[in-house]
Amino acid sequence: NHDIYVLGIETSCDETAAAVVKNGKEILSNIVASQMESHKRFGGVVPEIASRHHVEQITFVIEEAMNKAGVSFSQLSAIAVTQGPGLVGALLIGVNAAKALSFAYNIPLVGVHHIAGHIYANRLVAEMKFPLLSLVVSGGHTELVYMEKHGKFQVIGETRDDAAGEAYDKVARALNLPYPGGPHIDRLAQEGKATIDLPRAWLEEGSYDFSFSGLKSAVLNTLHNAKQRGEEIDPKDMAASFQASVIDVLVTKTIQAAKEYHVRQVLLAGGVAANRGLRTELQKQMAKLDNVELVIPPLSLCTDNAAMIAAAGTVLYMQGKRADMALNANPGLEL
Ligand code: KG4
Ligand code: ZN
Repeated sequence: NHDIYVLGIETSCDETAAAVVKNGKEILSNIVASQMESHKRFGGVVPEIASRHHVEQITFVIEEAMNKAGVSFSQLSAIAVTQGPGLVGALLIGVNAAKALSFAYNIPLVGVHHIAGHIYANRLVAEMKFPLLSLVVSGGHTELVYMEKHGKFQVIGETRDDAAGEAYDKVARALNLPYPGGPHIDRLAQEGKATIDLPRAWLEEGSYDFSFSGLKSAVLNTLHNAKQRGEEIDPKDMAASFQASVIDVLVTKTIQAAKEYHVRQVLLAGGVAANRGLRTELQKQMAKLDNVELVIPPLSLCTDNAAMIAAAGTVLYMQGKRADMALNANPGLEL
């Protein structure tokens, strides 16, 4: 009966992150070095630049996480690292750092799926109650994940084209907003009116899959046609209309699935969980369901971080899951 300290490492995209979590729930440190500024002028994450930043930052970030936590390597029960999915060159930096430390200090190694990490960010703020449903919405993913118990993930719906965050970023670009566009659209949407008619991709009856490319095209076409006619479209109204469509589909499908699967909890996860419109609408609709709890982590735990990887890694470690020196980055890893 001793405390479990896990070092988490995350480098799947454009944040170099390390964190120490105690007993899978308590954050002792959570360091994130963002590269956002370097990618901004390119309007998106440049994989080659991401890898270089990770190499430069990783040792400092890990050192800072360990120092801030006041934990020594000999006290660690495990090192948990994001194995995939993500950019392969970026993932490799974290995986190799984790392997080197695991080997040098003889500490068990655990590979973590990035989405499992996003879901387990919730365990840092609330007790997980099974069965549960998690809506994972980020720049790379849009998934509804059903969990019957710890460590068991069943993807019941996913995007067939663009991820929700990707759609936000593309529409933002069309409105000449800086990258990443999600927060800017969110802000404009609060001030605008959802008066522009845009499609909602419900797909087949009963499907929990998503599709956002049609919506994105509709926005681009509407902007283009207006311009040709010499008309002005208020970007605030476009942002509000686009956001209304995305939220309508996300929330409706989540509520439907929560009912069908009789879950006790709904967890929101991923960078788009920062969206104020989504949070508000999900809260409003969930309030109509009896005995289903909604958990929404604070913004700092919704976007990429390593505390969530340590949290997920702790559970996998407790379940006896181990990786060895053959652990490799897997950009297309399945949940
Ligand atoms: O989870 P995350 O940090 O990285 C990935 O794993 O993808 O998510 C980043 C995504 C970006 O597409 C960004 O535009 C979006 O989350 N995002 C938002 C908001 N804040 C971040 N989208 C909508 N509204 C927001 N407030
Ligand atoms: Zn992410």
